[in-house]
Amino acid sequence: MSDKPSKTYTLTNNETGETYELPVLSGTTGPDVIDIRKLYAQADVFTYDPGFTSTASCDSEITYIDGDKGVLLHGGYPIEQLAENSDFMEVCYLLLNGELPTKDQKDEFVDIITHHTMIHDQMQFLFRGFRRDAHPMAIMVGVVGALSAFYHDQTDISDPERRMIAARQMIAKMPTIAAWAYKYSKGQPFVYPKNDLSFSANFLQMMFAVPCEEYVVNPVLEKAMDLIFILHADHEQNASTSTVRISGSSGANPFACISAGIACLWGPAHGGANEAVLKMLDEIGDVSRVDEFIARAKDKDDPFRLMGFGHRVYKNFDPRAKLLAKAAHEVLADLGVNNPQLELAMALEKIALEDEYFVARKLYPNVDFYSGIILKAMGFPTSMFTVLFAVARTVGWISQWKEMIEDPVHKISRPRQLYLGSTPRDFVEIDKR
Ligand code: ACO
Repeated sequence: MSDKPSKTYTLTNNETGETYELPVLSGTTGPDVIDIRKLYAQADVFTYDPGFTSTASCDSEITYIDGDKGVLLHGGYPIEQLAENSDFMEVCYLLLNGELPTKDQKDEFVDIITHHTMIHDQMQFLFRGFRRDAHPMAIMVGVVGALSAFYHDQTDISDPERRMIAARQMIAKMPTIAAWAYKYSKGQPFVYPKNDLSFSANFLQMMFAVPCEEYVVNPVLEKAMDLIFILHADHEQNASTSTVRISGSSGANPFACISAGIACLWGPAHGGANEAVLKMLDEIGDVSRVDEFIARAKDKDDPFRLMGFGHRVYKNFDPRAKLLAKAAHEVLADLGVNNPQLELAMALEKIALEDEYFVARKLYPNVDFYSGIILKAMGFPTSMFTVLFAVARTVGWISQWKEMIEDPVHKISRPRQLYLGSTPRDFVEIDKR
């Protein structure tokens, strides 16, 4: 970010005529931002922006989105090129370090991640404390938060070395925790990581292997898993990432912050949407009922929304949805699965994209529209969909957390409010109310 403002905005108080110069800051690309940091001190007003629709909460070098053009860049690299040519470990390195690794750097990084996938053995008793029917996201929130009790050294956030260790530990251990949450709900024994497998293949074997037979990882599923992880790795200041940053702004430890991010991700307006897409497709049931559900989505008196459609930032196709739609076809073809839900999803997408309501509001399929279909075909139960999102997004969360801690001007996040409650009044004794 350049220090010298190239332009300013002038704010005028129409009652007093007083004016205030607000500097404008320019990023390397994307819209300028008006710097209002001194506004309250100078003009005694706050800005009002519930949901942060027009507010940049930080500066960042990690990820860039142009929602109007459907562009997503990590470290400047388009997501399409990363999806085509890279792998999840490389993308993790890029998000954490700002550059793609050399061959030696990548080997070292993969080696470190591979050798940190086991979790403290005592942690299995934490899993066993949950009810068998606990939602795996509930287990994730608890167990990831509990990492701070097991890896206490990394709660010292003032040490850069410790911060990097915490980042690598979380990237490495998250698949193990996720797979064990699933195994516990199935009543199956926990499967330990295998160091001769790739990150994605290892996750699949921890999810689906059982001790009584050999599990051979299907390379098509391994590739699809890796693609899904790449596409969900980071997405700039979305709700869960902002949650992680806000939690971390108080100096909270990284494990607790990521646990907060997982809690936010769980909501159906965020990471829970792919689960909701499948439920919606089940409810629609058949192509003949698509029009009825499109009409419901448009009816303001009906709370029904087309799940997997619309995005706060993308007002054009979500580039991740395009990549996933292609992958869904490939995986289903490879597995020989004839999935009526995919046909239904395509019909729904076609009709919605031609409908005036969706066109006018720039509502396009988002990443969740196809991810549920592909994950289901791969054998994941719907309750695990958001968990997989959390496994992938961990690198984004922790990279953004590190960036914030390493920013010399970072402050505790403390938004203000427009107060609409009662003005001061005297306390009334209970028998007089
Ligand atoms: N179906 C029908 N109408 C919709 C939908 C939808 N899925 N999404 C938005 N709209 C309409 C709204 O009713 C509103 O109409 P209006 O202007 O006539 O009142 C208009 O489009 C704008 O919608 P907002 O809710 O203001 O948009 P916002 O940016 O706040 O919400 C969100 C974005 C939450 C993603 C929304 O589009 C939605 O609920 N989509 C379905 C859930 C979903 O797929 N979430 C996944 C998001 S991606 C992710 O987390 C990875």
